Amino acid sequence: MKTALQEIITPLLSLKELSSVAERQRWAERYREIRAFSEELCKPLHAEDCVIQSMPDASPAKWHLAHTSWFFETFILRPGLANYREADPHSSYLFNSYYNAVGPMHCRARRGMISRPTLEETYRYREQVDAAMTSFFERATEDRWRELKPVVVLGLNHEQQHQELFLTDIKHMLAQNPLCPVYAHASGEEPSAVTPLRWFGFDEGIYSIGHEGEDFAFDNEGPRHRVFLDKFELASRLVTNGEYIEFMKDGGYERPEFWLSLGWSMVHDQKWRAPLYWEQRDGDWFNFTLSGLRRVNPSEPVCHVSYFEADAYARWAGARLPTEAEWEVASANLPLAGNFVEEKHFHPRPLIPGRSGELAQMFGDVWEWTRSSYAPYPRYEPAEGAIGEYNGKFMCNQYVLRGGSCATSQTHIRRTYRNFFAPDKRWQFMGIRLTKAAL
Ligand SMILES: [Fe+2]
Repeated sequence: MKTALQEIITPLLSLKELSSVAERQRWAERYREIRAFSEELCKPLHAEDCVIQSMPDASPAKWHLAHTSWFFETFILRPGLANYREADPHSSYLFNSYYNAVGPMHCRARRGMISRPTLEETYRYREQVDAAMTSFFERATEDRWRELKPVVVLGLNHEQQHQELFLTDIKHMLAQNPLCPVYAHASGEEPSAVTPLRWFGFDEGIYSIGHEGEDFAFDNEGPRHRVFLDKFELASRLVTNGEYIEFMKDGGYERPEFWLSLGWSMVHDQKWRAPLYWEQRDGDWFNFTLSGLRRVNPSEPVCHVSYFEADAYARWAGARLPTEAEWEVASANLPLAGNFVEEKHFHPRPLIPGRSGELAQMFGDVWEWTRSSYAPYPRYEPAEGAIGEYNGKFMCNQYVLRGGSCATSQTHIRRTYRNFFAPDKRWQFMGIRLTKAAL
């Protein structure tokens, strides 16, 4: 016989349970979608393509497939699924990227030496992890689900980050091949009239930047805090290849007055004279794309430039790079729309002429270098334990990039998103937007 109180509580509890089941089903579906997209990106590749490591910064495609599975195995399945037995006892050593709290790991620069497990075995590893994750979604106790759901969401965002790295690493690998292989056929846009650059002004004042709220964000995006900005102007669009060629023609790579000292050393040490993937044939510039070698389109946004090149270009142009706070304030009312990986174009697009009423190309196309060092926001504290190694320990000697690229998932980007790379890196889709002080 139920008491009056039980009569009230029982349906409430079942409603709660029902909502938990629905929530788990939603995340299980999201898990399947994101995991499937990783494998879809692999479809144009052959097994031989998946094992090469073209430089220490880039990882083989096979390693990305395994490492993202290892993340779920390590941070969800081991703690969250009773009697879970790891699919392969070597996976922890081979596919741990940088989590010292989890244990020792294979040398990053030698990931291309791991011919075993084979690609086929790696796909089996993914299947085993996926099957165990299905069990987790269905059977984890309510307490376990509540505790680990944030880590599931982190794992999915982590996999989306690796999907972008997968594409940029594949591009670097294919670019080493004299046959200039095509990853995906996509027609290049014809050179078109370039929308004139305009300047959008922003008032001085105290603004708030950084993430707050219940939606997912990486820990490095918060806490939200106040910043003071002097008035500034932001360019209405990205710098184009044509504009960058003008910089090159004006001796951009030969004139030290444009360059930071470290950048000038890189120009000489690395013999830089154009963006990464550019080569000159019979006087014309070509660039390697994921659709093969193409003539450089002057109306496309310039990409694959380092922070040093972006900074030197800005100085040549009589401007500077934005701070990340300026960028975020300027993006506040813009839709999160643009040329993202969902378009499967895998290359920045020229700005459609005629759009000049608002800042354009802020999201998608290329990550935009900012002049902000990647540093913790005020009151930032990394999480306890291994997950705390995700971002915080990299806050040194890197610069922040904003806005996502043509290799980023639209569902992954936020206006508070802080990407970061060392200033000499060029293999991500990195580009330039100018800023200047307002008069
Ligand atoms: Fe990772």
